[in-house]
Amino acid sequence: MKIAVYNCREDELEFFDKFSKQYNVETVRISADPDIETTSLAKGCECISITSDRMITKELLAAYKTYGVKYISSRTVGMDHIDAEYAGKIGIKVGNINYSTDGVADQAIMLMLMVIRKVKHIMIRYLGQDYTLAKSRGYDLGDMTVGIIGTGNIGTTVAKHLSGFGCKVLACGMKKRDEIMNIVEYVDIDTLLTKSDIITLHIPATKENYHFIDQKAIGKMKPGVFVINTARGALIDSTALIEALECGKVGGAGLDVIEGDREIYYLDHKHEVIGHREMAILNAMPNVILMPHTAFFTEHAVSDMVENSIKNCCEFFSKCQE
Ligand code: COI
Repeated sequence: MKIAVYNCREDELEFFDKFSKQYNVETVRISADPDIETTSLAKGCECISITSDRMITKELLAAYKTYGVKYISSRTVGMDHIDAEYAGKIGIKVGNINYSTDGVADQAIMLMLMVIRKVKHIMIRYLGQDYTLAKSRGYDLGDMTVGIIGTGNIGTTVAKHLSGFGCKVLACGMKKRDEIMNIVEYVDIDTLLTKSDIITLHIPATKENYHFIDQKAIGKMKPGVFVINTARGALIDSTALIEALECGKVGGAGLDVIEGDREIYYLDHKHEVIGHREMAILNAMPNVILMPHTAFFTEHAVSDMVENSIKNCCEFFSKCQE
């Protein structure tokens, strides 16, 4: 079986070498984005493996169909970059993968610690040799209440990893997870918003969740609340967040993702004017930490992403042979 791998990065190559051999598949490695010019590179491949770097639109899906692609495996948990409904209509199956949740969970907690301990403010001043303590006093995580929105695999891992810090953990989610019942208190969303000192998002970017954190939701939050997002930018209305940071209603934010980041992150823009005003405003705030969607990026997770994407293609292929 042949798999065309789009957005194949240098750091993934060792894993593609290893797992192509292990699962006896041929992988065509393409560093380019999946776009209308590169769809023909999938000719002769039943499956393609993609990341979430680019949108997989109706136009691309129709082109892949003409080249004989039957299955699209995204090397991601999130699926919001694929027009899955249209793919289904034209008979292309799509699938996502799971990978070790520790990387994203650890980064969410790292961002919590960085914002509550005012790391950006302290580091900026350190670079200017200002070692005074002014405005550097932070909070103990153990004294705080953390609200986890979404207890899927990643939210559940965040809860487990937080249990060692001694903080109170509230959670809300579609399904209650048995394994964290003794470490979190499941509450309704309004209770979570009103009672949490830190709110961390671990839900998918569906139509229903668009701007889940908007002006109204922020209005219910505690003054000085910290907001963490390692999921998808579209979950937060950036304008509402900026207004809340400007007036102090939100005390800080740790954002691995921001609305409109798809065409920006993972590229070098240092000689360009980016033209993403919300990103520029947030980046200028001493209490906001932005990261370029790197929460997933650990050796363990990348290995899992490659292996599980190949595995998914093999499973699809063997089902087709039945
Ligand atoms: C996902 O798996 O959904 C991610 O966000 C990671 C992706 C950017 C590679």
